[in-house]
Amino acid sequence: MCGIVGAVAERNITAVLVEGLKRLEYRGYDSAGVALINDAGVLDRRRRVGKVSELDAALAADPLPGRVGIAHTRWATHGAPSERNAHPHFSGNQLAVVHNGIIENHEALREELKGFGYTFSSDTDTEVIVHLLDHTLKTQPDLAAALKIAVKQLHGAYGLAVISAKQPDRILAARSGSPLVIGLGLGENFLASDQLALRQVTDRFMYLEEGDIAEITRDSVQIWDVSGAPVTREQVQYHEGAEAADKGEFRHFMLKEIHEQPSVVQRTLEGRLGEDHVLVQAFGPQAAEIFAKAKNIQIVACGTSYHAGMVARYWLEELAGIPCQIEVASEFRYRKVVVQPDTLFVSISQSGETADTLAALRNAKDLSPGNGGYLASLAICNVGISSLVRESDLTLLTLAGPEIGVASTKAFTTQLVALMLLTLALGRVRGTLEAKVEAELVAELRRLPTRLGEALAMDHVVEKVSEHFAEKHHTLFLGRGAQYPVAMEGALKLKEISYIHAEAYPAGELKHGPLALVDADMPVVTVAPNNELLEKLKSNLQEVRARGGELIVFADEQAAMSNGEGTHVVNMPHIHDALAPILYTIPLQLLSYYVAVLKGTDVDQPRNLAKSVTVE
Ligand code: G6P
Repeated sequence: MCGIVGAVAERNITAVLVEGLKRLEYRGYDSAGVALINDAGVLDRRRRVGKVSELDAALAADPLPGRVGIAHTRWATHGAPSERNAHPHFSGNQLAVVHNGIIENHEALREELKGFGYTFSSDTDTEVIVHLLDHTLKTQPDLAAALKIAVKQLHGAYGLAVISAKQPDRILAARSGSPLVIGLGLGENFLASDQLALRQVTDRFMYLEEGDIAEITRDSVQIWDVSGAPVTREQVQYHEGAEAADKGEFRHFMLKEIHEQPSVVQRTLEGRLGEDHVLVQAFGPQAAEIFAKAKNIQIVACGTSYHAGMVARYWLEELAGIPCQIEVASEFRYRKVVVQPDTLFVSISQSGETADTLAALRNAKDLSPGNGGYLASLAICNVGISSLVRESDLTLLTLAGPEIGVASTKAFTTQLVALMLLTLALGRVRGTLEAKVEAELVAELRRLPTRLGEALAMDHVVEKVSEHFAEKHHTLFLGRGAQYPVAMEGALKLKEISYIHAEAYPAGELKHGPLALVDADMPVVTVAPNNELLEKLKSNLQEVRARGGELIVFADEQAAMSNGEGTHVVNMPHIHDALAPILYTIPLQLLSYYVAVLKGTDVDQPRNLAKSVTVE
């Protein structure tokens, strides 16, 4: 994910821009750049490949002062990481743009603009924006008015910022699918793709909404909505309590992180969805080409990330029709694997530093392509500057933000979202997923944050249910289909933080062994979305009840399951079956949390465990 920072002030703002970029660097980077208009009205830029510190050093050696400027850290989608592809991009020597997102019709626009005499100096999709705007300015010289016209021709996702030497007192911004926030100062104003970048200069923010265009000067902010009507957006005051390294109103980091899931899922989707499809380039410049060749998937991960991969296997085979294997990294790395031709190697990791996962990736890369090796490697990871990301060919970052609780929660659900995006992208590129199904799932993904919020609203119901566990020593978790790994994740959460022994089984396996354990002291937790396996699951539950086992069932509100003796049903909001694993994870997280609180264990730092296992 790229990062944007902009500033318009009475003071020199170069340091503000660079500091903002440094704060965004955790999302990953491959190059960075800054453009400013100096007091003589001259637009100039510095760009460097690598970390923001490279840019900082370049600016120290060759300063670029100015009172209006925009800056960017790039994560390549079109065109390799290089200085010529780094933002800001210029049209002539008057106009500069920085952009997050993907312009899908860039090739057609590029041809059209070449016809108007524009020459391109980069391989990026972004450069079409700046030339298109320049072309529009020839007939509509007002920057805001021209931007409103120009963005109508862009298909895809963008958050962008523009400065012009002809109107040097302002920054223009436009948002569609990629977030932007305005930071309000005293006699100076700012812009960024994440308020984190501006925390050093202000605590007052204004979030742009979809389709908004904004004109920002030192002492004014003017916003127009998607219809072109002037609007005002609410001012939000930032409080320290909202900070990741602070529990805020929550008793534990884990509870805070559970409740952050609607917003981090939203963030993970931003900039990755077109109107009715996933933007394949979000996975990297080579993604479309690699996905088209992929005939198999091999997933490798540890712990919670492994469970995310297990869910993805159901999705990849069912929706994208691509064979998928999954293995825990600590096993994979020590055995001789037989690789099917054209297999994409996918690693999943919150930290990107887990020793076994990294070793598995390195082993996979050691097998030469075309000679028993993998087609390419893709990392699904929450830390953009991690080893896993640096060493993989393609990356999709989960944007969960720092996760402090050792038991992984928001990292898991954002991994699932990323894996659903991968499923849809692979399905489309390979022609194995109908456009209508993809469109339906994209619409469902957009609704997902709201559904997750509804599930979180049941917090107190789950808290009540947790009372059935506090005195127990063993628990079974059951699920079928893609809910089986969800049950595994539920069992892992419970054992990690409450130290209650918990095991997960596919519900159909119950009678092949674990049923022998069921009695009044062994609660059985089940997730039951309303799908074709529901009736079978209901029979499995009868088997438990017949042995006196207590049942806790998280069931679709349409599944017509009701409370009875020894059966506690918690109704869940209805959701598309494909996304049910993400939704049903929430009550299981809450359940383990409240059981641990009742037991008085150390929720955020459970005994014997570590957040990031960087040694074998
Ligand atoms: C540790 C953590 C788990 C995590 C696992 C894999 O065991 O306690 O929460 O799932 O490592 O970590 P990763 O960073 O690779 O996802």
